[in-house]
Amino acid sequence: MNYLITGATGQIGSGVVKCLLERGERPRVFVRDAEKARARYGDRVDIITGDLADAKSLAAALRGIDALLLINVGHEIEARDEAAARAAKAAGVKHLVKLSSMDAQQNAGTGAWHARGESAIRVSGIAFTFVQPGGFMSNALGWAASIKAEGVVRSPTGDGRIAFIHPDDIVAVTTLALTTQKYEGEMLPISGPEALSYAEMTEKIGAAAGKPVKFEPISEEQERQQMTKEDEPPEIIEAHISIYRAIREGRLARVTDNVNRVVGRKPIRFEQWAQENAAAFC
Ligand SMILES: NC(=O)c1ccc[n+]([C@@H]2O[C@H](COP(=O)([O-])OP(=O)(O)OC[C@H]3O[C@@H](n4cnc5c(N)ncnc54)[C@H](OP(=O)(O)O)[C@@H]3O)[C@@H](O)[C@H]2O)c1
Repeated sequence: MNYLITGATGQIGSGVVKCLLERGERPRVFVRDAEKARARYGDRVDIITGDLADAKSLAAALRGIDALLLINVGHEIEARDEAAARAAKAAGVKHLVKLSSMDAQQNAGTGAWHARGESAIRVSGIAFTFVQPGGFMSNALGWAASIKAEGVVRSPTGDGRIAFIHPDDIVAVTTLALTTQKYEGEMLPISGPEALSYAEMTEKIGAAAGKPVKFEPISEEQERQQMTKEDEPPEIIEAHISIYRAIREGRLARVTDNVNRVVGRKPIRFEQWAQENAAAFC
């Protein structure tokens, strides 16, 4: 099997490349910055430079590829998924695995972009698997600055719960979806083992870091002002606010058993992630 991995310099794509290397594969990676990829993988992968915004560069990278891992970020996901699926179909790729989002099923925030991307891929006629993780545990690294400075996490999520998933579980499911064709035509919504409120996750980080950390609920408007101060573009701000609202209203609390079904073990608990990353909060 010949694999093309996009997003190979990012969190999930790099994990998948690592797993493929461990299995003795030599994947092709599609990256914007060859030096960044070379620093990470040396000569153990074939590096193709391009940009998902430029479908021609992707088409060239797809020659001779059997399975494509598609990782698209940002508000142009729909157009880029559509172009990638067309290029993959034209190149004779047999299977496209898209890193999507569980929020696609709720049409919340960035999930709405993924939902439209999934539709475009279905229309292309290529065989697909949509890996749909809920929120990543690693998102909690975004709380590190306020935890370090003030011992506090602020968010407009109220008492709402979400079952954050460990990145290693996303990597494991994605790698298996890519290397076995077992899940063709399926959506794989994947979550951590339990839905937790932000206050509960804050407490677990405090326990791992060995210091008191408290949760302070804020309004959507306060969050919007904070993100504006941090120079986030308006579409990203509104996508985040929409996710926070969905969490607060209990719409993203779903727990699935797909990590267990696909990988054959229980998903990793938030406590473990907090222990692995405790230094980031001290
Ligand atoms: N965070 C969450 O809670 C969550 C939940 C559900 C789903 N998701 C989805 O997960 C995905 C993000 O995964 P991740 O955390 O692994 O991403 P990440 O760490 O932010 O990495 C993004 C990767 O995409 C590459 N990239 C960005 N723009 C590109 C372009 N125009 N052409 C080619 N490559 C490009 C980046 O390359 P460079 O190194 O060149 O920047 C990088 O390798 C998104 O689709 C997101 O919606 C996230």
